[in-house]
Amino acid sequence: MGTLTKQAAQKAATAPLLAGKATAKAAPAVSAWSGRALAAVGGENVVDVLTRQHRQIKLGFLRAALPGPWRRRNFDRLMRLLAVHEAAEEAHVHPVARRALDHGRELAARRRAEEKQAKELLVALWRTGPHGTGYLRRLNEVRRAVTRHAAREEREEFQALRKAVSLSRLRMLGAEVKLTQAYAPTRPHRWVNNEAANKLAAPILGPVDRALDALRHRTAS
Ligand SMILES: [Fe+2]
Ligand SMILES: [Fe+2]
Repeated sequence: MGTLTKQAAQKAATAPLLAGKATAKAAPAVSAWSGRALAAVGGENVVDVLTRQHRQIKLGFLRAALPGPWRRRNFDRLMRLLAVHEAAEEAHVHPVARRALDHGRELAARRRAEEKQAKELLVALWRTGPHGTGYLRRLNEVRRAVTRHAAREEREEFQALRKAVSLSRLRMLGAEVKLTQAYAPTRPHRWVNNEAANKLAAPILGPVDRALDALRHRTAS
């Protein structure tokens, strides 16, 4: 993406951040029980879920750049979406890529390194806050890093997963990702950047972050 412009940001503000559903294909290999479990969480395959979230994240950056009283809300939404998205990828998707793909180990290591670097920038952005000095510059830094990372995931990892992993497994992974995102931390945590840290820390940090979010929301309203 190019540099943020006011017109682009204002145009983006009119579209809902979390709207839209990708279509899911049928999964003939899924059992009746897992079929019902999948239906309960939408039955979408993981690549569709994550690719849609990449689009929402790009839109979220434009909305978070808007001036005015809604900047805080848009910033919080973007931070939350980025946190739960990366948590689910680190906990579920990169480990499967590492095991299932040719050169999966190197590929997953590169993605994790990018995520670690982006998380450093995210922590700095979080500390600056939406009204702090240098906010737009930091937001743009994070946007560039995240956009590059997302493009590489789609090009190198997601396309390969579609070919190497069965559709029923991709749909199960989609369900795991959605469940993880329902309780994952909502803020960037520098040291939570791999499968083990995410699986161990999410049940503790997730509720803490969500309680802090609720508290801030109550004091702000
Ligand atoms: Fe990622
Ligand atoms: Fe991603």
